[in-house]
Amino acid sequence: MLTPDETTTGVWRLLSLPAVYETFDALIGTRDVRRRFVQEYIRPVPGAHILDLGCGPGTMLEHLPNIRYTGIDFNESYIVAAQKRYGSRGTFILGNVTEVDWGPDESFDVVVAFGLLHHVSDATAREVIPRVKLALKPEGRFVTLDPCFVKNQNIVARCLHKMDRGNHVRDVEGYLRLVNPAFRGITHKVAHDLHVVPSTTLMMTCLPCDLMTHMRLDAQVRARDRENPVRFPHSHEIPRSLPT
Ligand SMILES: C[S@@+](CC[C@H](N)C(=O)[O-])C[C@H]1O[C@@H](n2cnc3c(N)ncnc32)[C@H](O)[C@@H]1O
Repeated sequence: MLTPDETTTGVWRLLSLPAVYETFDALIGTRDVRRRFVQEYIRPVPGAHILDLGCGPGTMLEHLPNIRYTGIDFNESYIVAAQKRYGSRGTFILGNVTEVDWGPDESFDVVVAFGLLHHVSDATAREVIPRVKLALKPEGRFVTLDPCFVKNQNIVARCLHKMDRGNHVRDVEGYLRLVNPAFRGITHKVAHDLHVVPSTTLMMTCLPCDLMTHMRLDAQVRARDRENPVRFPHSHEIPRSLPT
């Protein structure tokens, strides 16, 4: 029998509720991990267009001022919660990352998969990842974060990752194999101390071109943005609720 990609029965069913998910997140320290991930991996410049795959209730937006944001998730209650909380600060699309249309090619500066890959099978990832590459601008980046298995890891971390709601927690090689065919410049880092509870976390940065070309393109874009800064509304001007 095929393993479901996510466990949504028993106690895990509760995590589908945005309030429970966010409380759990806060308790295990994921809110802080998200904040650090934005600073160190997303590194948004004002006006950057960011696509968040498996966006959940859109919590990443807490740490992303002055950008254009599109989030996709197939859990309806998460998308409704995100729309209620963030309104027109982002576009929130209900759908499967394999199926939804997330817009024209080469339109995103950063595509984020924060906790998505361990929720999708290799087959699903192989459908999605080439599309991610097409969606990115040449100077763009695909950045990911997921729990992972490594040799000799903390036994509690290993048990917790085996019990994860996402049924595709992999070893480092397993994740690298997903992105390797599509992306050229791939760097990764494993951390053992990100959460309040024992955990082992893999972060990957995947570039559509080699590192030297990417650095050149990135420097050009940042220089252009400094010369022509994008003006965004101050936060008090941002509508907080859905337009009626
Ligand atoms: C671990 S959660 C991470 C949520 C969010 N990125 C965050 O920062 O809290 C994984 C998310 O991926 C979503 N997801 C899993 N598989 C998906 C798919 N095939 N299409 C769309 N969303 C998916 C789940 O509904 C869930 O919200």
